[in-house]
Amino acid sequence: MTRVALATCAQMPDLQDDDALLLEPLRERGIDATPVPWDDAEADWASFDLVVLRSTWDYARRRDEFLAWARHVPSLANPAELVEWNTDKTYLRELAAAGVPVVPTTWVDPGEAVALPADGEYVVKPAVGAGSLDTGRYRLDESAHRELAAAHVERLTAQGRTVMLQPYLAAVDEAGETAVLYLGGRFSHAIRKGPMLDGPDQGSGELFRPEQIDARNPSSAELDLARRTLDALPADGADLLYARVDMIPGADGAPVVLEVELTEPSLFLDHDAAAPARFADAVAARVSESARLP
Ligand SMILES: Nc1ncnc2c1ncn2[C@@H]1O[C@H](COP(=O)(O)OP(=O)(O)O)[C@@H](O)[C@H]1O
Ligand SMILES: [Mg+2]
Repeated sequence: MTRVALATCAQMPDLQDDDALLLEPLRERGIDATPVPWDDAEADWASFDLVVLRSTWDYARRRDEFLAWARHVPSLANPAELVEWNTDKTYLRELAAAGVPVVPTTWVDPGEAVALPADGEYVVKPAVGAGSLDTGRYRLDESAHRELAAAHVERLTAQGRTVMLQPYLAAVDEAGETAVLYLGGRFSHAIRKGPMLDGPDQGSGELFRPEQIDARNPSSAELDLARRTLDALPADGADLLYARVDMIPGADGAPVVLEVELTEPSLFLDHDAAAPARFADAVAARVSESARLP
């Protein structure tokens, strides 16, 4: 029987609920899938025909360790080089240089000072981060918020992290964020995520902030932007086992890319009845392809 590991994290040993929807369709395709925490010292990664990254959400503070692990897994999807590229949001600069509209971003490296704009609403977040953690929203014309924003930037840079300062795209409050999902290189489905930020970063002991998710029909502008984003990746989009492009309407109402998720995205398999079977097909195809390789 073909064996596939679904890489998760120690805090979530049984996968998140929607990923568990994969187990039965995989079994029907002759694949025995096992959730395994990525940092499980006992795991024998070489014994799996394929290791699929799923809810490895605790890597943000241990990225070097995570990338070292990814590089030594014999058969990882998505591949380690792409995981390295994708786990640091400075890739947004490359997408922008390739002509993809992205959220306007000021980057602050450790040791650099930041000049906060005089007013307007801004987001402070780390370049390496996940789950909306360490992320806050500040009204810079209010002195209390300005101080909190400056302290937030300092807290992150003192941890050696690069900081992103972005205008708060207020359209997210009504329109939400659109995530376009690709499985096996093809469009699968899309969801709407409600706004996530209500103010300054409070810190959180959780793995991720709770989200409001609904199924959504993406607009043609969103589908077009998602496709252009895949075309600008340092990989062939058709080769990706999974990909997610997240966007929010920008200042002029046209969508801009917030992030592209090639590492451990929630795939929202519970929001499209056919998505679990589609993903299981993509995994089965990937396993049989690698079996044919010399
Ligand atoms: N510039 C922004 N404008 C509005 N909302 C934002 C902005 N940046 C982040 N957010 C909100 O914060 C959430 C997390 O930010 P994101 O860049 O997606 O990082 P991650 O999901 O990797 O933690 C988003 O889902 C969105 O709701
Ligand atoms: Mg996100």
